[in-house]
Amino acid sequence: MQAWVIGNWKQNPATISDVNTLIEALLAAVGDDKADNDKDSAFDRSNGCQLMVAPSCIHLAAVSERLKDMPILTAAQDISAHSDSIGAYTGDCSAQQVADAGASWTVLGHSERRQYHQECNDLLVQKLSNALTQDLGVIFCVGETQAQYDEQQTLEVLDAQLEAIKTLLDDQAHLATSIAKHLIVAYEPVWAIGTGKVPTVEEVSATHQHIKHTLAGYAEPLSQTAVLYGGSVNADNADSFAASPVIDGALVGGASLKADSFLAIADAFGRAKKSG
Ligand code: 13P
Repeated sequence: MQAWVIGNWKQNPATISDVNTLIEALLAAVGDDKADNDKDSAFDRSNGCQLMVAPSCIHLAAVSERLKDMPILTAAQDISAHSDSIGAYTGDCSAQQVADAGASWTVLGHSERRQYHQECNDLLVQKLSNALTQDLGVIFCVGETQAQYDEQQTLEVLDAQLEAIKTLLDDQAHLATSIAKHLIVAYEPVWAIGTGKVPTVEEVSATHQHIKHTLAGYAEPLSQTAVLYGGSVNADNADSFAASPVIDGALVGGASLKADSFLAIADAFGRAKKSG
């Protein structure tokens, strides 16, 4: 299966100048010329692994423009629930605007959105629907808190969060194949985000098996959905996650803000999935 390594930049970097420095460092390694991608260039470092970055919405258009025709896709970090196009929704950016800015994907349901913006399933169903209307792929994030992990409630928490996808499918069953093409699920335990604490690879693998099984139960085409792990992934632990056949990539926060560590993670997944 195609491996994915996606950088979620969150509310970083501080300036467009810092954004440009990061992008140029990435392009210097993966090849800033489309023709380079066919050669034995430094692109081998991420070969077999699809790279994507999710800048803040203020930087999305500039990053997408620079990455046009390059081997790195761009994603938004969120889209409006209220309208897929235009409307009186102060502060929101719609799926149409995000697509027009050059992004082909959006992150949805990140735990920081769930925590700081009280995002619930009803809202996320709306956002999922708006993304699909505008042909945006969705990286749908799920994950349990530390307390839920300690109480061994992980799987039931994930089941409840994945219900948003089931609700969408119940409404639009005829779109299952299209939804499957536009969906990546990212398992991000809240307690592992930015903490340096990680679950064992065995724990993540068992959880991914559960997610894949659950999605396949919703609709057969979803059995092929890529499931990524996120939470304190770095250049040192990427190999161990990449070795698991059910971990299809990584959603990376802090380590995606430095080209070297981001590319080392991509390299780990690229190598593991090529040999696996
Ligand atoms: P860290 O890699 O910084 O733990 O963040 C993970 C994350 O939240 C990616 O969406």
